Amino acid sequence: MSSYLIAGRTPLEGEVRISGAKNSALKIMAAALMVPGKVTLTRVPRITDVTLMAEVLTRLGAHVESDGDRLTIDASGELSDETPYDLVTRMRASIQVLGPLLARLGRARVAMPGGDAIGSRPIDLHLGGLERMGAKFTSEHGFVEGVADRLHGTRVLLDFPSVGATENLLMAAVTAEGTTSIENAAREPEIQDLAVFLNRCGAKVAGAGTPSITIVGVPELHPGSHEIIPDRIEAGTYAIGAAATRGDVTLTDMRPDHVELLQLKLEESGAEVTRGDDELRVAMSGRPRPLDLVTLPYPGFATDLQPLMMVLLGQAEGSSILTENVFEARFLFVDELNRMGCQIRVEGHHAVIRGIEHLSGAPVRAPDIRAGAALVIGGLCAQGETEVFDIEHIARGYEDFDAKLAGLGAALTVRQ
Ligand code: EPZ
Repeated sequence: MSSYLIAGRTPLEGEVRISGAKNSALKIMAAALMVPGKVTLTRVPRITDVTLMAEVLTRLGAHVESDGDRLTIDASGELSDETPYDLVTRMRASIQVLGPLLARLGRARVAMPGGDAIGSRPIDLHLGGLERMGAKFTSEHGFVEGVADRLHGTRVLLDFPSVGATENLLMAAVTAEGTTSIENAAREPEIQDLAVFLNRCGAKVAGAGTPSITIVGVPELHPGSHEIIPDRIEAGTYAIGAAATRGDVTLTDMRPDHVELLQLKLEESGAEVTRGDDELRVAMSGRPRPLDLVTLPYPGFATDLQPLMMVLLGQAEGSSILTENVFEARFLFVDELNRMGCQIRVEGHHAVIRGIEHLSGAPVRAPDIRAGAALVIGGLCAQGETEVFDIEHIARGYEDFDAKLAGLGAALTVRQ
């Protein structure tokens, strides 16, 4: 595993262009399995998770070509119904082929994704909703096997607005017989983007982005093309990085309306935030002010930005309480921050953060994508040098992370 060696006390300054959204691109790639023809996607982030999803689609029988941030997927040939264990364990999002395969083939055999560094992550809401649409599931030997002669429309009320379950049900419903409504649906911008793509290919999806989505089934989809939305989590990472390092950064080519609550929280912490049509400037001069924060499904505060906010609040003038409501084990990386001198105590799903003047450089290990990025930002704030190990996690979700940071003045060395 490689590492970053980071020089501390470096304010991030300058402009950074935001790439396409990982959590939209992966689902739209899965949805392309339902299109009997060529799909062209642009602004696809060049990250390892996209490469992995392309491999999943290729193993299923689709033809995938990539050229820079442009991807073409042709799933008009014969498809297999099985996703290989080795790929699913490396990327949970592979589970998002379940709905498309059931809709297209009437059967699917998907390796159980299992949990990861942030939680147990069951798929009961995915399976429960698809069963209501007529699918039957068995699980054995580490695989979930589903069959459905023909999926039919129904009303699904989700216990929790799960992003993944909403997406799998939405995709399965597109060619189901009749009308499906998903209630208490997730409202993330990535779900809206998926619906826009599917409607471009002839689907009839209404209400994406609201708690109630209605899908009128159509016999078949047709080829289409789509530009992926900007990545709001990548944008949030650089925005918080600017504040935490007491820098001044302008994010370009992004959607400020997708990170509204973040803007408010950054202002509350003392940052100066200037919003443009597709730009956001974040500048911070002094120490951050403490604040309390809870993570919630969109439009609540994004759980994926929680680790970054912990680095900012770890340096605040006073104490903050951060409450994680989405993933039960997303505080595991706190020990790594405390290794850098932070004073964070976890009690259940609350973290009490006593702000300190300066973090101190230390060797730390990235347990997942977002915590990895947070540790790198922590290293830029710290006194002395920091070495972040297992940086492969970061490359899964951030395009050109070290080059973009270097463009903002960071001194990072990659060690193999
Ligand atoms: C998506 O994960 C994102 N991943 C996550 O981003 C993100 O943190 C999450 O949504 C929440 O915003 C992708 O899009 C690939 P959920 P997903 O289903 O779909 C529970 C990143 O860093 N749940 O909304 O897995 C679940 O355990 C990643 O980019 C069930 O109990 O999230 C969790 O506690 C990390 N049963 C909660 O719901 C289910 O069937 C939210 O999960 C499904 C979910």
